[in-house]
Amino acid sequence: MGGSEPTLFDAVEQPSATAAQRIAQLRRQLHEHNHAYYVLNTPAISDQEFDALMRELADLEAAHPELYDPNSPTQRVGSDIQTGFTQVRHERPMLSLANTYNKDEVAEFYRRVRDGLGTDDFSLCCELKFDGLSIALHYDHGSLRQALTRGDGTQGDDVTPAARTIRTIPLQLPAGTGWPESFEIRGEVLMPWAAFDSLNAERMEREEPLFANPRNAASGTLKSKSTAVVAERHLDAYLYYLLGESLPTDSHYDNLQAARRWGFQVSDAMRRVQGLTAVYDFIDHWDQARHSLPVATDGIVLKVDSLAQQRALGMTAKSPRWAIAYKFQAERQSTVLREVTFQVGRTGAVTPVANMDPVQLSGTVVRRATLHNADFMAALDLHQGDHVLVEKGGEIIPKIVGVDTEAQEGARGEAVQFATRCPVCGTPLVRYEGEAAWYCPAYDTCPPQIKGRLEHYVSRRAMGIDAIGPETIDAYYTQGLVLGVADFYDITAAQISGSRGTRQRTAQRIVRAIAASRQVPFERVLFALGIRFVGETTAKLLARAFRDIDRLAAASPDELAAVSGVGKATAESVHEWFGTEANRRTVERLRAAGVQMALSERAMARQGSSLAGQTVVISGVFALHSRDEYKALIEQHGGKNTASVTKNTTFILAGTGVGPAKLEKARSLGIPLVSEEEFLHRIDTHSAPTDATASLPHEGEG
Ligand code: IVH
Repeated sequence: MGGSEPTLFDAVEQPSATAAQRIAQLRRQLHEHNHAYYVLNTPAISDQEFDALMRELADLEAAHPELYDPNSPTQRVGSDIQTGFTQVRHERPMLSLANTYNKDEVAEFYRRVRDGLGTDDFSLCCELKFDGLSIALHYDHGSLRQALTRGDGTQGDDVTPAARTIRTIPLQLPAGTGWPESFEIRGEVLMPWAAFDSLNAERMEREEPLFANPRNAASGTLKSKSTAVVAERHLDAYLYYLLGESLPTDSHYDNLQAARRWGFQVSDAMRRVQGLTAVYDFIDHWDQARHSLPVATDGIVLKVDSLAQQRALGMTAKSPRWAIAYKFQAERQSTVLREVTFQVGRTGAVTPVANMDPVQLSGTVVRRATLHNADFMAALDLHQGDHVLVEKGGEIIPKIVGVDTEAQEGARGEAVQFATRCPVCGTPLVRYEGEAAWYCPAYDTCPPQIKGRLEHYVSRRAMGIDAIGPETIDAYYTQGLVLGVADFYDITAAQISGSRGTRQRTAQRIVRAIAASRQVPFERVLFALGIRFVGETTAKLLARAFRDIDRLAAASPDELAAVSGVGKATAESVHEWFGTEANRRTVERLRAAGVQMALSERAMARQGSSLAGQTVVISGVFALHSRDEYKALIEQHGGKNTASVTKNTTFILAGTGVGPAKLEKARSLGIPLVSEEEFLHRIDTHSAPTDATASLPHEGEG
């Protein structure tokens, strides 16, 4: 290159004009790379290069707040600013589709279309019916202006800030690809199965109510008040309907192909066919193949392809005459509801359970189905003796999806009410603000709560006293031998041998196992105490931050919440637990019995060192802990967590769905991938050395 030739940068005189140009250029490049990565799955640059461009853009934007753009690639991460939702009227109403459930009904639709058009010269688009929540995106000059939920079809919620965090929704369309100046595109926001499973696993650990299915999870997430929460939950979006004044073609199919070129994620499954046989083939194929898709689908959608023919057919008040949904048969059976019982967990949370006449469902006999919580149960409006529809969808636990009114004979039984008192101890139930569950507040006296805590205490991951099982606990509790966790340490072999057929050898084994639990490291003791919201990871974080129980007990909620990875609710719960007289007494008795109440010298010496000097990249979706928890764990063990893979990366903590760019980079640099189980094992064996449980014989109860 000739040295005297002016470059683009030399030619620009004003520094702010340079910045503006560079910002525009970076935004364009990052939008393209984002699309290549998330929609096409073919990244053009490494994550590291991507991060570098992003950092440069973020720095420039920080220096030039006057150039703020809500659609900048930097805005994808969301923020903690709470947003309320404004209701916005749809420019064109969002109709729904008429449903069909068998091929005869599909054939009827086909005939209606043919008769309506007066010809059988028409094509149908066959598409997957995605099971999420529908969204309408409005673009002006290639830029995302507004995102609305369906709402009641006439008005929807403005969820634009949340939609901006969804990586498969383009914020700025690439120039020169032919998009109309103004248009609307509709589609479905979804939570992929992997993200759904990992979210529920996290909620289970935190004892928060689980989402019943990915659709509820997606809608709960999109409506979340903090867009930062939306950003980290990995929502996805498929687009399937283009609307506007000046669309590129007069074919639905071709318009969606064009939308794909503009950067939208359009399903590859879509086919344009003629004739019923081809439609049936599509149905048959996807009825099976859908089970290996990363997102939930509940049917297929058929649409007349020609927009002129669509106009000719028109709409009914509720749905277009040119389209129909065919719903896949869910694994669903009808049976009779006999009774709703209530289960009390160790935290006092009360779960309603439906007891039904046994019914075959996906190869197993189902008698019970969870009703999740009071709201879920109320929504079903159940009456005793109702014929109910039980379904086993992608979820593991069978659920009641509704009353089978067609099978109903005669008058209905009494309406099923949620319990007002604890089914076991009779204490009036309470509901805490912001929670879906009802609780029995009789923490100290309610038997299932006490027994649940005892079971938790001895469980393998807690104190590991696996010589004692639930039945033994039940017996000890009933005999008055063990009423609280500290009582275990007072048991003698003489007391228990002979009782319920326990032989002397077994009695001695149990006593030895209890004694050995005195060596269980402090962090597991903390987990074993069963403090609400304190799962294994949180226990580790707290143990390492406070080092002994006295410091932990004295900590204020603010000090607790200051620990990275510990949330406000957990902090409150820990503070409250130690504020309770009975709990403090338990701690004192455990201490007197010799249970570990501080990190051991060894753990302390090794603390923060097992990952010393190591640089770890977290990637993918995890089943056991959240990303934040892993980040905190890495830091607490002296490691460094970075975003991008470089030659300095020690290993990648890899969940499912690690991005292709990261995989490729790791391969080329020879950087190992470490699963979450392996990772937890690594930090565990380094920081919590113990032989307490390892030395015990793992025989069954004698
Ligand atoms: S087209 C007027 N296509 O199904 C036609 N809808 O019951 C508008 N859905 O509200 C919808 N996949 O949320 C269309 N490929 C697809 C779809 C789809 C899922 C949802 C959408 C709509 C509902 C209709």
